[in-house]
Amino acid sequence: MKKSPHRSFLTLIEKTPRELRSIMDLAGRIESDPEAFRTPLAWKTVGLLFEKSSTRTRLSFEAGIRQLGGGSLFLGGDIQLARGETIEDTARVMSAYLDMLVIRTFGHERIEAFSQAAAIPVVNGLTDGHHPCQALSDFYYMEKVFGTLSGLRMTYVGDGNNMARSLAEGAALLGVKLILASPQDYQLPESEVAALNRIAHETGGSVRTLSDPREAARGAQVLYTDVWTSMGQEAESAIREKAFRGYCIDRSLLALADPEAIVMHCLPAYRGKEITAEVIDGPRSRVFEQAAARLPLQKAIMMFCLGREL
Ligand code: CP
Ligand code: NVA
Repeated sequence: MKKSPHRSFLTLIEKTPRELRSIMDLAGRIESDPEAFRTPLAWKTVGLLFEKSSTRTRLSFEAGIRQLGGGSLFLGGDIQLARGETIEDTARVMSAYLDMLVIRTFGHERIEAFSQAAAIPVVNGLTDGHHPCQALSDFYYMEKVFGTLSGLRMTYVGDGNNMARSLAEGAALLGVKLILASPQDYQLPESEVAALNRIAHETGGSVRTLSDPREAARGAQVLYTDVWTSMGQEAESAIREKAFRGYCIDRSLLALADPEAIVMHCLPAYRGKEITAEVIDGPRSRVFEQAAARLPLQKAIMMFCLGREL
């Protein structure tokens, strides 16, 4: 397990269950009394370097930084990095001006290189490999709904992508029983799943991969999905639409789940593809409450990274 330098937040698996627990507990305290947390980021400046589109991640970080008393600088595609300046030079320079950096980028190795070269904490706002802020926020939200994560039966239907990987890492660390239902060619590598199960063995969780979404959905307390074509994979979208047909959370799949099951989606959603309009806009859907949970959780991650857990 590769540990990131400083107090960065690049993946869930680099953290201990106790660290994840303390971030979620802090998020709970922030959510119940946000005004008690007006100054933890006072005089701190956080850069948001986004090489891909974002609505929820960008806004929840920007609003969160402001509410915690700090300042944020959004850095899109017009910095010298886009013209060939190296990641290492960029990270060293940014470390002189900023206190923390949130990055959304393509290959996960790019954020690792940033984190290695930076003298400040780096937070992963999504890479091709991982989406840890979203996944931890999702577990935080599920715990609020069900009271405990221990033994929770969760089924993810769709691509074995960044979202699936971060959910699988979180499930292993937090004791959740996760089934990932993906077409054969789009599953998380078996070796990764085996390594996660060695951790899950200690926590009471488990990670299983299946290719039949119906078998996976039976009895699930949480049904979760994500897009079939992630950012950066647009050229593959026709092939993917074919491969993922049948991996859609629709009324018949939901009927197999626990009668009290909730439906989650990290968003943005494509109705009629990975989820039907009837389900995402229906009574079992919690997608907007799920999105709202990102604000307190993101605040807690930033306070953790800056060593400001109160
Ligand atoms: N779920 C999520 O990360 O959404 P954005 O891409 O809008 O940030
Ligand atoms: N898997 C999706 C998640 C979007 C929040 C993507 O990477 O585009």
